[in-house]
Amino acid sequence: MAIAAHDTLIEASRVSIQFTTAAGVVEAVRDVSFQVRRGEKFVLLGPSGCGKSTLLKAVAGFVRPTAGTLLFEGREAREPGADRILIFQEFDQLLPWKTVLGNVQFALRVAARLPADALSQRARAYIRLVGLEGFERAYPHTLSGSMKQRVALARSLALDPEVLLMDEPFGSLDALTRLHMQNELGRIWREHRKTILFVTHSIQEAILIGHRIMVMTPRPGRVREILDNTAADAGPDSPEFVQMQGRLRGLLGLGDRGHEE
Ligand SMILES: Nc1ncnc2c1ncn2[C@@H]1O[C@H](COP(=O)(O)OP(=O)(O)OP(=O)(O)O)[C@@H](O)[C@H]1O
Ligand SMILES: [Mg+2]
Repeated sequence: MAIAAHDTLIEASRVSIQFTTAAGVVEAVRDVSFQVRRGEKFVLLGPSGCGKSTLLKAVAGFVRPTAGTLLFEGREAREPGADRILIFQEFDQLLPWKTVLGNVQFALRVAARLPADALSQRARAYIRLVGLEGFERAYPHTLSGSMKQRVALARSLALDPEVLLMDEPFGSLDALTRLHMQNELGRIWREHRKTILFVTHSIQEAILIGHRIMVMTPRPGRVREILDNTAADAGPDSPEFVQMQGRLRGLLGLGDRGHEE
């Protein structure tokens, strides 16, 4: 898949992150270097506890590297900003007392100073984009898990961030819905070409989503390899996809059968 601009949006150079707790020092990631280009979908793939969420939080500005540098648009990501938005696995990221439209508008109202009708128009456009037209007046408790994730996605996209940081956003969905959302994300990306930094521990999801896949080692997470991936276009039954699966399994130290999901 062609990516228009090749300039670097995120640059991690020899990043190590440690947490000091009452029980001692936890080394989450060690000596991690990677670059995310503007407009690409970059996937962090690795076993539980290897520091994927920690890296994402560092890009978001919630966690500081203990060593190394983490640059966002050439500047250190020292604090959170509306240019980098995190989407989590949990479904309850929405304000329960606000409707779908209310949730998307609320975020916009805080971040962008728009007149009321422009605000509403923009919110509705993004609700349409994620396939929720007709549900503007629905409250979160009446929505399914994937619909709530769509609202969270609409809300984030409406803010027009430089990058979407997605931390296993489909992890709580059933397999079929998850597949559907993975395809939907592809569709939405083709419309927006928004840079996406996507965390998963699913090999299949990594292949379906990533232009490039960074495979991490178990904790402390280091970079095992960064792979170019075109197997998503070829489809899950293609030899290319199966080959990529095998390669990722090997890099993750799994057997031929793997331990998917
Ligand atoms: N705020 C914190 N304080 C102390 N330790 C932490 C903190 N955040 C993360 N850790 C530790 O850092 C390591 C990496 O955690 P992280 O959540 O980044 O892993 P992960 O790769 O996202 O795992 P999972 O796939 O299970 O979500 C873990 O050992 C975790 O306990
Ligand atoms: Mg995590």
